[in-house]
Amino acid sequence: MTTELGTLETFKNQRTASATVLIVDDEESTLRICSDIAVESGLRVRTASTTEQALEELDQYPIDIAITDLKVPQLGGLELLRRIREHYPQVSVLVLTQYGTIQTAVEATRLGATDYVTKPFHIDELRRKLQRLIREQELDQENRVLREQLRTRPGYGELIGVSAKMQRVYKLIEKVSQHNYPVLILGESGTGKELVARSVHFSGTRSQKPFVPVDCSALVPTLIESELFGYAKGAFTGAIHTKQGLIESADGGTLFLDEIGNLPVEMQSKLLRVLQAREVKPVGSNERVSIEVRVIAATNKDLETAVRSGQFRQDLFFRLNVVQIKLPPLRERKSDIPVLVQSFLEKFADPVRPLPTLAEDALTRLTAYDWPGNVRELENAIERAVALGSGPILHSGDLPSSLQYAASNGGTDPMPASDELVPLEELERRAILRALRESGGDKLIAARLLGIGKTTLYRKLKQYESQLARHQTA
Ligand SMILES: Nc1ncnc2c1ncn2[C@@H]1O[C@H](COP(=O)(O)OP(=O)(O)OP(=O)(O)O)[C@@H](O)[C@H]1O
Ligand SMILES: [Mg+2]
Repeated sequence: MTTELGTLETFKNQRTASATVLIVDDEESTLRICSDIAVESGLRVRTASTTEQALEELDQYPIDIAITDLKVPQLGGLELLRRIREHYPQVSVLVLTQYGTIQTAVEATRLGATDYVTKPFHIDELRRKLQRLIREQELDQENRVLREQLRTRPGYGELIGVSAKMQRVYKLIEKVSQHNYPVLILGESGTGKELVARSVHFSGTRSQKPFVPVDCSALVPTLIESELFGYAKGAFTGAIHTKQGLIESADGGTLFLDEIGNLPVEMQSKLLRVLQAREVKPVGSNERVSIEVRVIAATNKDLETAVRSGQFRQDLFFRLNVVQIKLPPLRERKSDIPVLVQSFLEKFADPVRPLPTLAEDALTRLTAYDWPGNVRELENAIERAVALGSGPILHSGDLPSSLQYAASNGGTDPMPASDELVPLEELERRAILRALRESGGDKLIAARLLGIGKTTLYRKLKQYESQLARHQTA
C-alpha cells in the first residue's frame, strides 16, 4: 500500500528519478522527512507504515533501496530486514535505530543492513548515507551492464568479430578444441593467430593444463635444442643444473610453436622426431622423457611454397597440418572493424572518464583503409587516437597519418584504371558495387565507404533495381 504522501511524492521527481526507495516507518513525520530527502536525491519514493505493507510493496514494485525503522509494527525491522535479505537480495537496506540501541544496530548490520542512522538523525547525515547507497547501486548496475556486455561480446573468447569469415573460424576452433589433432594456423601478421591458438587450448579439455608458447623465430640458433629439449647437469659449460625443456613443460597441455616457418631446417627434423616418438632426450642426457602434448603451430609464411623450395621439411609440414585454420586478413572482413574498434576503445580508454566515441568521418576512414598490419595495426591506431585525441569524440585527424593518406588516395578508389570517359551515373554504380563487395554485402559499411548515408544508399539501390526491371521487361 502507498500512503497519500507516497503517491504524491512518488512521481514528483519522475523526470530524473532512477532508483526507487521504500521508506518503512509508522511515524508520519519520519516518512515525510525521509521522503523529502529521497526525492531531492532523485529517487522514486514508496512508503509503508507496517512490515506487511512493506512486503507488499517489495512484491509489487522494483525497489532498489529500503529505509526502515527497527520498531515498525507487526514483525519489526529486524525481521523485515531478514526477509529482504532472503527474498530481495538486490535491495540495499538503511536501518533507522533509536539513540542508545547500538546493539540492535550491530545486529542489523550483521543481518545484512548496508548502513544505519541513529534517531533523532541529522538531515545531512541521512542525505549523505542515502546518496552513498545510490552511488553504490549505480556502480553495481554499471558492473552488471559491463558483465552482460562481456558475456555477449561479439566474438569467441578473446577474439572479436562478427563477419561470416570469423564465424567460420569460431566453428572450427570449437570443433578442434574437443580433440587433440595438431592444428596449423595460417594468416598474415596481426590477424590474431596467437589468440586463436589460445582459444583452442582454453576452450578445450586441456584448459587446466599448461599452454606453452615457443617463438621459433626468437630462439637463438645455438640454444634452440637446449631450450626445447632441456639439458642434463654438466651437458655443457654453465649447465650447473638439470633443466626442463619447453616441450616437457607443456606435458599434458598445449605446445604452441609460433612462427614455425622460421625454425631452422636441422631443428625441423629433430622436432619431427620428438613429435613422432612422443619423447624428448634432453641435451647431454641418456634418458628419454615421454611427453604427451597437443601441438599447435602458426606462421605467416606460405609453408607450401617453403616446402617446394626445400626450406621446410615436407614430413614435418604433414605432421603439423592435420587441421588448418586460415585467418582472413582484416581487409576481407571489414564488417568486423566497428566491433573491434569498440572493444579497443573500451580497452584503452581512461576508466574514470566517459568512453570516447568515434566521429563518422573517423569510422569512414577506418573502413576505407586496407590494414596491411591487420588487427594489430587497428589496435595500435585506436590506442594512439585515445592517447593523443583531443576530446571524447575522436575525429579522423586523430588517426595515424598512414590512414589519412590512404583514404585521400582512395583506399577504395572506384575509378576505372584506364582513361576512358565514363558517365557519372555509371561511375556511381561501379563505386556502389565495389563498396558492397568490399564490405561483404554489409550496406551500413558500404555506405560508410562511399561517404554517404545508409538511406541514400538504399534509395540508389532501389533506383538501380527498378531501372534493371524496366530494362528487362523492355
Ligand atoms: N579477432 C581479434 N579480436 C581482438 N583482438 C585481436 C583479434 N585479432 C588480433 N587481435 C589483437 O591484435 C594483436 C595481434 O594479434 P596476434 O598476436 O594474435 O596476431 P598474429 O597473427 O599472431 O600476428 P604475428 O604473425 O605478427 O605474430 C594482439 O594484440 C591481439 O590481441
Ligand atoms: Mg603471432
